[in-house]
Amino acid sequence: MTAKATYQFIGKKILITGGAGDIGKATAHRFAANGASVALLDLNEPKMADVAGELKDYNVPVGTFRCDVTSADDVAKAFTSAVEQLGRIDYVFNNAGYQGVFAKTDEYPEDDFQKVININVVGVFHILKAAAQHLRFGGGGAIVNMASYAGVVGPPNMLAYAASKFAVIGITQTAAKDLAPYGIRVNALSPALIGPGFMWTRQTQLQAAVGSQYFDAEPKVVEQQMINSVPMRRLGSLEEVANGVAFLMSDEASYITGFNLEVTGGQ
Ligand SMILES: NC(=O)c1ccc[n+]([C@@H]2O[C@H](COP(=O)([O-])OP(=O)(O)OC[C@H]3O[C@@H](n4cnc5c(N)ncnc54)[C@H](O)[C@@H]3O)[C@@H](O)[C@H]2O)c1
Repeated sequence: MTAKATYQFIGKKILITGGAGDIGKATAHRFAANGASVALLDLNEPKMADVAGELKDYNVPVGTFRCDVTSADDVAKAFTSAVEQLGRIDYVFNNAGYQGVFAKTDEYPEDDFQKVININVVGVFHILKAAAQHLRFGGGGAIVNMASYAGVVGPPNMLAYAASKFAVIGITQTAAKDLAPYGIRVNALSPALIGPGFMWTRQTQLQAAVGSQYFDAEPKVVEQQMINSVPMRRLGSLEEVANGVAFLMSDEASYITGFNLEVTGGQ
């Protein structure tokens, strides 16, 4: 018996939101290295251009599209432009997100709560809906919604973020049922402590600054406290998150839908 090479995406086309960020970029590298064309969507145009520049070495088509996922109009326009440029889309990585401020529940600011829900829930809905409308007429495809381990177990001082990521897991379960008749699989991915990267550094600094009973006031100590909570006693890498996305998009996951893959080192 000869085993097939796993997770080849030659000729496939993936759209990645939050494509200028750490996980979006690592996933773009992973798919481009395996032969996929890539459409990056993000608010941050200079960083998106940098990522696109890095992807040149893979010799696959890459497009960048400025898009605020909280705007249904922006999403419709960016999705249409991406389809026009790449011909079609097979996979959508619904990944753009914002961690919110870190504050205790009784002090959590109203405006930031709204902002987190707008980006992480309403934004995910806009992309999911646009993806479903496109993929259904293309005969199917796969969507991965970026959740978080904070959507499985609510961490302290992250009220809005936890709410938003629990919502993403619920959205995934319903969308998987609604879209299965169209041959569209919808799964969620829930990383825990991932780094090095922007969100890792930010969360250790901000957890330290809150002054709660859960974390030390010194970010370096917080890092160690967090790592000690992981059974595998290390951070997950950005590449390990991208591996999870690749698996969920691949044909090897062809019977998996409505699932939340926890990339947590055993947390
Ligand atoms: N890094 C982690 O430890 C970790 C763990 C669990 C889940 N996540 C989730 O993974 C996703 C990516 O995180 P990351 O670590 O790459 O963070 P990041 O901050 O590096 O990237 C997030 C990207 O989303 C973009 N973005 C934010 N608001 C947007 C909007 N309204 N429209 C379009 N783009 C917008 C940002 O410009 C940024 O490029 C997020 O949804 C995050 O919640 C991250």
